[in-house]
Amino acid sequence: MNDPTRVVVLISGRGSNLRSIIAAMQNGELPVLIAATISNNAHAPGLSHAHAAGIPTTIIDHRHFTGRAEFDQALIREIDRWRPDLVVLAGFMRILGTDFIRHYQGRLMNIHPSLLPALPGLDTHARAIREGHRQHGATVHFVTENVDAGPVILQVAVPVLPEDTAETLAARVLAEEHRLYPRAIRWFAEHRLAIRDGHVLLDGQPVQKCSQ
Ligand code: GRF
Repeated sequence: MNDPTRVVVLISGRGSNLRSIIAAMQNGELPVLIAATISNNAHAPGLSHAHAAGIPTTIIDHRHFTGRAEFDQALIREIDRWRPDLVVLAGFMRILGTDFIRHYQGRLMNIHPSLLPALPGLDTHARAIREGHRQHGATVHFVTENVDAGPVILQVAVPVLPEDTAETLAARVLAEEHRLYPRAIRWFAEHRLAIRDGHVLLDGQPVQKCSQ
C-alpha cells in the first residue's frame, strides 16, 4: 500500500475547518495523515481539536520575527520538518510572501468564504449582504501569488436570504465549508487534481464551477 498523503494544516483561530478535516479522516472518508497543525497564535482555540486527535502542534508566532520574510522562512522550516505532500490553510490569518508560495506551488490550498473571484479579502458575509448579493458561498483554491485568486478546485453556493445577518449567513456558508474542504483534500490525496494554464483539472477535465 502507498503511504498516506501527509498534510500539514495551518490555523490562526477557531479551527472548525480543521475539526471537519480531522472528522473526515477519522471516519475513513479522507485517506490522509495530518502530520502536524501549526498556528501563529498560541491561543488559537482550534489547537484543541488537534490535541484531542493526538496531532502534534507547533506555534510559530509572527510577532517574534522582525519581518514577514523571516516569519515565512521559519514557517517553511517547521512545515518541511513534517514532510508534507500538501499544506492546508484553514483560517490562517497571515498573508504569505512570494517565496513561501513558490516553495509550495501546487501543494498549498486555501478555503475562502465567498464565491471567488467575488468578494476577496475580509468581512465577506457582511459585504455580500451590503452589496445585495443573491448568492454567496465558499471556494477551495490552490494558492498563488495573488491573494484569493488562485485556481479554483471547488465552490459551493448558498442563498442570501432577506432576513440574513452576517452571522446567519456565515453559519450557512461555514456548514458548507465543512463538507467542501475534506472533499477537495480527498481529490488531492487521490491524485485526481492537476493545474493546467492556471486552471484546475479533476480527472483531466476542467472542474465545474459552483459544483455541490
Ligand atoms: C473560514 O470561514 C474560512 O473560510 C476562512 O477563515 C474561516 C476559518 O474558520 N478562511 P475556522 O477557523 O476553520 O473555524
